[in-house]
Amino acid sequence: MQQHNVLILDFGSQYTQLIARRVRELNIYCEIHPYNKIPQNLNDFKAVILSGSPSSVRSEEAPHPDLSEIRGKKPLLAVCYGAQYLAHFSGGLVAPSNTREYGRANLSYVKEGEEFLANISKGSQVWMSHSDTIKELPTNGKLLASTNDVENAAYKIDGEKTYAIQFHPEVYHSTDGKQLLQNFLVTIAGVAQTWTPDSFVDETVAGLKAKVGNDKVVLGLSGGVDSTVAAVLLHKAIGSNLHCIFVNNGLLRKNEYTDVLKQYEGMGLNVKGVDASARFLNELAGLSDPEAKRKAIGKVFIDVFDDEANQIEDAKWLAQGTIYPDVIESVSVNGGPSATIKSHHNVGGLPDFMKLKIVEPLRMIFKDEVRRVGKSMGIDAELLGRHPFPGPGLAIRILGDITSEKVRILQEVDAIFINGLKESGLYNKVWQAGAILLPVNSVGVMGDERTYEKVVALRAVESTDGMTADWVNLPYEFLQKTSNNIINKVKGVNRVVYDISSKPPATIEWE
Ligand code: XMP
Repeated sequence: MQQHNVLILDFGSQYTQLIARRVRELNIYCEIHPYNKIPQNLNDFKAVILSGSPSSVRSEEAPHPDLSEIRGKKPLLAVCYGAQYLAHFSGGLVAPSNTREYGRANLSYVKEGEEFLANISKGSQVWMSHSDTIKELPTNGKLLASTNDVENAAYKIDGEKTYAIQFHPEVYHSTDGKQLLQNFLVTIAGVAQTWTPDSFVDETVAGLKAKVGNDKVVLGLSGGVDSTVAAVLLHKAIGSNLHCIFVNNGLLRKNEYTDVLKQYEGMGLNVKGVDASARFLNELAGLSDPEAKRKAIGKVFIDVFDDEANQIEDAKWLAQGTIYPDVIESVSVNGGPSATIKSHHNVGGLPDFMKLKIVEPLRMIFKDEVRRVGKSMGIDAELLGRHPFPGPGLAIRILGDITSEKVRILQEVDAIFINGLKESGLYNKVWQAGAILLPVNSVGVMGDERTYEKVVALRAVESTDGMTADWVNLPYEFLQKTSNNIINKVKGVNRVVYDISSKPPATIEWE
């Protein structure tokens, strides 16, 4: 890695990824590593940040890593639990606090003349979230800031570039948090602000060339943002040695297969479209259980992809659109689910394509960075702004069993809804939207005739990562127009409802 690099040691805080996001927003590259796997190559890092943690430093099970190769040797910023850990092990005293310290607070004292606190003033709002507090500073500790309830809200250790803050600079509610990170990283640690989408592209393309050489790479395109950006990066590096496969599972949106394929070809990608709709629908026939449907789709996908990948002679690599949150999850402090999933595979029984070496050009960047990288490479804004779409596609939005007629109905409904959102300027205000075909008929009247037809639900949510979500308050006029359009234009549907459930307790998809 040519860039100046910052190490974030993760003690298991829910906010650790946010620290990384804030650092990256300063155009500084950083990596998160769990506290129990401190990288060997510390020389590669210009500065270190210790994260928060749900633990108490006073507990024996709490993270207590050896920091002797870091403290005093590298610029160090300790946040929340990190600040307490530093105090606890350096002659200070950490004890349970008498008052609950969660939420907003304001700095009531700010030491003057400190580079660390440049442009941060008394009254600045910070975000607290801790139940222990630092009662006594560590040896050589000097107080830098306080709030009304927390005296030792910020301190430094004299003679070192070691700083600690009890509050969370990474959360939005700490209004000067980014300034504080900048003071520490840029002014004190001297880290260069050179991490940009363009620099990422240059570095990644060079890295891919070196890694893959003249080998052939196979990549499964999904029409989504991640696989597309990964493909364009690889294409820049190895040109036609990148072989993309785009499978139509028959469960895509209306015209999506042909439209996206055309778009990929226009981008100069070496892509083979494989229309396997019939194979998928055959395998799904008669299945109503959501998990059985997902498994059937997964199985056919693997078979189809394996057949296609095997036709690419001498392919050595499989490229994947894995992004940083998946990587962090898999190496997280408590070991993520990805680790467990892999251990269940019997390598001998894997399909051939899974035995290829893996290359993941996006494994160190977040979703919003993937979009910025895509933009800097000239990928169409509409493609980059696409809502997430689940791998099993419309199959998990057709409740119960699947037939080609149901797929057709849902494709029509979905197209009216999504095009309507685009035409009304609402598409980019919504994180994900789609329609669901319910397994019930309801009575209606059209003209003088009684009808007994399908009900569809519309769902539009706002979210940042899909983990939690809330339904979007779409304008009544929009809903009214969309409902009219659907009922008048889609044969077989006589009723439209709008899903007003948040996640949790509901999920985004209905299956
Ligand atoms: P839920 O329904 O769990 O969805 O709230 C959260 C996000 O994940 C997507 N999703 C899937 N994506 N395969 C996928 O590739 C799946 O089986 C799957 N199930 C849900 C969903 O669209 C939402 O963005």
